[in-house]
Amino acid sequence: MADTNGNKNGFAVHVRNVTKTFGTGEAQVVALKGVDFDARMGELLMIVGPSGCGKTTLLSVIAGTLVFEAGEIDVFDSPLHRLKNREVTEFRKRNVGFIFQQFNLIPTLSILENVSVPLLINGVGRVKAEKKAREVLERMGLAGRENDRPTLLSGGQQQRVAIARALVHDPRLVICDEPTSALDKDTGAKIMELLRDVARHPDRCVIVVTHDNRVFKYADRMTEMEDGRVHKVHENYSQYEQKGNH
Ligand SMILES: Nc1ncnc2c1ncn2[C@@H]1O[C@H](COP(=O)(O)OP(=O)(O)O)[C@@H](O)[C@H]1O
Ligand SMILES: [Mg+2]
Repeated sequence: MADTNGNKNGFAVHVRNVTKTFGTGEAQVVALKGVDFDARMGELLMIVGPSGCGKTTLLSVIAGTLVFEAGEIDVFDSPLHRLKNREVTEFRKRNVGFIFQQFNLIPTLSILENVSVPLLINGVGRVKAEKKAREVLERMGLAGRENDRPTLLSGGQQQRVAIARALVHDPRLVICDEPTSALDKDTGAKIMELLRDVARHPDRCVIVVTHDNRVFKYADRMTEMEDGRVHKVHENYSQYEQKGNH
């Protein structure tokens, strides 16, 4: 039986022997070569590793935006390897918030409309959705910018909008792909503090892929990937640092 906190193994995310191949023939790339990975409830877990090692692919299969060929992924109590596509979409809408490096805001929508989207697709009415979106934007220090288009904002402000959008529906799993690399030091630090606060909740989990050694100290644990596999897990940031990785 699954318990209420996390999946049957007690993890937020539990990945076993997952493989993912792109393309066919000579163009074939095996991006994940049997990944084992787990993330715990209430933690901020970082994933580091060289460019092309499969970090974004791993985030995408966990988030249910990319289909994988083999292996098993349990996220909370949902076994993604056993769900139909429609069920995976439903799972993702309710449970996952994404933060991308390039923000991925919709340029034709206002800030308020951008942040309301995850609520609207979950069936929340517009008035209620916009009220919640306003509250989250205010928490991000963006009150007064609701009616602006994203392009009027600085990079740091756009990333805060992207974070507001990722958090507005209170997802249990927040997934961030290099969220601070386009930001200055202070803005990056503020964003990591916020993500750490989100993770400090027994029902939630935050996974952050990053190259940015300025933010490693916010990790509860660090996972190292190389060539399509997870090859090391450090129980805390200082363990990682002691190995000369800072
Ligand atoms: N949509 C795709 N089509 C073909 N190859 C891809 C695709 N996405 C990723 N890859 C390849 O898979 C490997 C892992 O990519 P990725 O997960 O983006 O790595 P990382 O995020 O660690 O830089 C790379 O060799 C990349 O070129
Ligand atoms: Mg990537």
